[in-house]
Formats: sequence, structure tokens, C-alpha cells
Amino acid sequence: MSPVTAPSRLHELPADEMALYRQLDPERLPKHIAIIMDGNGRWAGLRRLQRFFGHQQGAESVQYVVETASRIDLPWLTLYAFSLENNLRRPVTEVSFLMRLLRTYLVGNVKRMNDNNVRIAYVGRIAELPREVQETMQWAAEQTAHNTGTTLTLALNYGARGEIVDAVRSALAKIAAEQDGPIPFEALLTQLTEEHVSQALYTAHMPDPDLVIRTSGEMRISNFLLWQIAYSEIYVTERFWPDFRGTHLLEAIREYQSRERRFGGLGNAQTTNTVEQEQALAQ
Ligand code: FPP
Repeated sequence: MSPVTAPSRLHELPADEMALYRQLDPERLPKHIAIIMDGNGRWAGLRRLQRFFGHQQGAESVQYVVETASRIDLPWLTLYAFSLENNLRRPVTEVSFLMRLLRTYLVGNVKRMNDNNVRIAYVGRIAELPREVQETMQWAAEQTAHNTGTTLTLALNYGARGEIVDAVRSALAKIAAEQDGPIPFEALLTQLTEEHVSQALYTAHMPDPDLVIRTSGEMRISNFLLWQIAYSEIYVTERFWPDFRGTHLLEAIREYQSRERRFGGLGNAQTTNTVEQEQALAQ
């Protein structure tokens, strides 16, 4: 029996997004896009508003971008919504506002997620979030678990260094548990491979991001998916997150498709020297 493919939802793209989509090569769309949503505070500051308004507007952008991603059938979209550092270093009032906003967002958007066939998932130290937030998160994940389109993963209370340390520990413990008896420490270390670590990360079930987008012009990775983005293309836009829409997602994909991904190899790059280079080498 041939697999049942979901009908295309491209016709649901608004005209401006469709015009951009037509410029893309449908065969080379990224499978996983990860976004560092930055600039909410500055967006609000420019308008002499409190930072909270920026976050509120940022939540609107999340929904626009998720819907465009689902219409173009992007399998994986991961959004950096709240870092471990945000949790530790921002005023308590802002952290509690973000937690309330997350709950409001989830409760208010689960129906739209289902209408768009979007499944909600999370990565991060979720168990450290307030109980009522965890309950709403769990509820939203359950309500959307049956969907088969885009998986929207929210990185919450997330930090990549901590994730890697946890992954190495659990990978070593797994290798030790798989032995018939005690294993010498040296032997344990030599058995550890990159694959073991990848399989122990929060993201073990998803492909590594092809494209990382950061808004607001900052040239930083900010402890986001450090292991997973080893070969991702990076796209930075000056636009603040509250102004980011589906069109900007498609512009980032267009830029991504103009890059040559070499994964450390030579790709289509020049593999033989020019006459001038040979002469310079001979001198
Ligand atoms: C960075 O802007 C953004 C955050 C720390 C939080 C991201 C949260 C949202 C986009 C809204 C809620 C999310 C969901 C999933 C409902 P910033 O405050 O660091 O901006 P700044 O650098 O201009 O101060």
C-alpha cells in the first residue's frame, strides 16, 4: 500500500508569501529551522512601551511563523522561547510575565495548532518550571499529539551546555549498563562516540537544524543547540522578533538555498589550483 500523503496546503499562503515561495526550490527546502527570537524588549522600547508589550507582540509573531511553516510543510520548527539564563538573570516580574504569556499562548492557540496539523513539543529543564505552567504545557502537547504536520518545539528553560553535560553523563551510564560486568573507566571512555551523545540529547528524535535564524541583528548563538548546529547555516536579520512574519521566514529560506553546504568537504568549490596559484606554490 502506498503511504498516504497529506494534501498540499500551499494554496493557503497569502499572496505575498506565495510570491516568495515560488522563488524557492521545493526540492531543497530545509527540514528543520531553529529560531532565536530576539529583540522584543527593543521593539517595545522604540515605541516607548514596557518590555511586556514586546513579548506579547512576539507571541503573535510565533503564531504567524508557525502557520507559514505548517503551510509549506516544514517538518521541524524549534523556537528559543526562554533560556536558563533568562530564568536566572531577568527580573522576577518579567519571568512570571513570560510564564503567564506562555500559558495564555498555549491555551489560546491549541485549536489553531490542530487546524494547522501542528504538534507541540518542548525541550529544556521543564521540571524546573512552575507546576501550573508544566500542566498547561503537558495539556497542549497531549491535545496536539495526533497531528502529523510541523512539530513546533519550544525550547524553555533551555541551555545547550547543560544539555551536553547531561547527555554525556547519560550516554556513559547507558554504555556501562549495557556491559556484562564492571567496565574499566578507560574502556568506558573509548567506547563513547558522537552518536551516543547525539542520541542522549533532548533532540535525539529530530534531525539537526539546517538553518538557524536570529532576529534583531545580534551575531550570537546564546547557548542554543550548540551540538546540533555544528553544520547549520546561520541567517541573521536586523528585524526585531515582534515584526517577523511568514514572508521573513521565506526570505531566510531563499537565502539558505543560495548557500552551498559543504559539511567540511569541498562541495562544488574549486578543487584544482589555478595557474597563478600553482606558480605561487612553486616559488
Ligand atoms: C528575546 O527578547 C525574547 C525572549 C527572551 C523571550 C521570547 C518570548 C516570546 C517571543 C514570546 C512568548 C513566546 C511564546 C512561545 C508564547 P529580549 O527580551 O531579549 O529583547 P531585547 O534583547 O530587545 O531586550
